[in-house]
Amino acid sequence: MSDLSIDFCGIKSPNPFWLASAPPTNTGEQIMRAFDQGWGGAVWKTIGEPVTNVYSRFAANNYEAKKITGFTNIELISDRPTEVNLKEIYEVKKRYPKHAVIASIMLNEKAKWQDMVKRCTDAGADGLELNFGCPHGMCERGMGSAIGQEPKVIKAITEWVKEVSKIPVLVKLTPNISDIAEPAKVAIRAGADGLALINTIKSISNINLDSLIGNPCVGDKFTSGGYSGAAVKPIALHMLTQLAINKETQVPFSGMGGIYNWRDAAEFIALGATSLQVCTAVMHHGYGIIQDMLKGLSDYLDSKGMQSVNELRGKALSHYSSWGNLDLNYRVVAEIDASRCVGCQQCYIACLDGGHQCIHTTKEPCQAYHGESDHAQNVRFKQQPQEHAKNPDSKVHVPFIQKEECIGCNLCSLVCPVGCIEMKEVK
Ligand SMILES: Cc1cc2nc3c(=O)[nH]c(=O)nc-3n(C[C@H](O)[C@H](O)[C@H](O)COP(=O)(O)O)c2cc1C
Ligand code: SF4
Ligand code: SF4
Repeated sequence: MSDLSIDFCGIKSPNPFWLASAPPTNTGEQIMRAFDQGWGGAVWKTIGEPVTNVYSRFAANNYEAKKITGFTNIELISDRPTEVNLKEIYEVKKRYPKHAVIASIMLNEKAKWQDMVKRCTDAGADGLELNFGCPHGMCERGMGSAIGQEPKVIKAITEWVKEVSKIPVLVKLTPNISDIAEPAKVAIRAGADGLALINTIKSISNINLDSLIGNPCVGDKFTSGGYSGAAVKPIALHMLTQLAINKETQVPFSGMGGIYNWRDAAEFIALGATSLQVCTAVMHHGYGIIQDMLKGLSDYLDSKGMQSVNELRGKALSHYSSWGNLDLNYRVVAEIDASRCVGCQQCYIACLDGGHQCIHTTKEPCQAYHGESDHAQNVRFKQQPQEHAKNPDSKVHVPFIQKEECIGCNLCSLVCPVGCIEMKEVK
């Protein structure tokens, strides 16, 4: 079995899976339960001067039958007394010395930042994560993403913390910025040992069309919150890549944003992450998802002949390129595996209206299915139909692709519900 253990700028962890700073890391009792189930580390729910949170604080976007494709929260930092959090950090470290416990902190004055660094270190935290990324509430008070968007403030606070810290310091970056490399460079120059990204993305989940109040609604008001969960993964992967390929931002990365399973995790690692953090997936499905994550990642590494998770790190980066360096001579065309086609005509519609009008079908069934217009028929029959591919079930109507017209955009293969369209390279 491959070795999943990591060393994140001196912070050791039995595996790369850490719980992100959020409700699943609110208390010591929760974190110990998570460690028992297999999590390798936890970033404590951000500690600062305790705040009061509103009651209605979460909302979700659902896509068709799929629940929580994206998640919005307006929760602030920990509302528990600091001394209780610190006492519990001490307890957790005493009982789980081999697991990583990182204290996430956010304050508003130099003396308070430095005092909190010392107190978290004394409590036994393995590292600190500076929360410069909370996009709601805290930034209105001059903290959170307001800090993360302001290079001078990032520099000052990181330097204050590094002045007194004896343990590794991670800076957690906000995605609410046009170029994530800018705050990252500033943080590194100021002494950050590692970077964590991404925090949540400014968002409004949805509007209740009866009350005309957005969600989560607090009485008759709503506010912008932070977006997380599956929907944000592509944004997080992009931002991680921008740092991983930049010579000026070469420190260990703790990657997060939409990690739900071992595949997501492996993608973050392949783009340069050393540790991974998970929040929304745990809020959705519980700590137990770690078992599949550990097994899946381990099996994947075995299947690739990799002895350790460190061998996967950054392996996808050499394939990343600017648009200008892409090969304009590379060509693919779509090909339907007729034996698996269910005749839904989804590919035909997509190519007709959103592709290059090169998937054709015979007139009769198509008219019956879609009430096709004369214009569409003319477009479709402007060239003589070629011979149809055959499906063993003679009732299934398999469209055909006019290959010389196909621009290889991938659209039909993306919409096909049974995955029977393959993009084939042509010379
Ligand atoms: C309800 C909720 C509360 C959060 N609280 C914090 C926090 O206190 N400190 C922090 O740094 N990040 C906080 N986050 C952000 C997460 O740590 C993480 O960066 C983000 O949710 C993206 O990861 P995910 O897609 O796995 O949820 C919170 C996220 C959620 C959903
Ligand atoms: S790849 Fe694009 S252009 Fe080619 S058949 Fe599919 S949808 Fe049409
Ligand atoms: S989308 Fe797929 S299953 Fe549907 S008709 Fe096209 S090839 Fe067949």
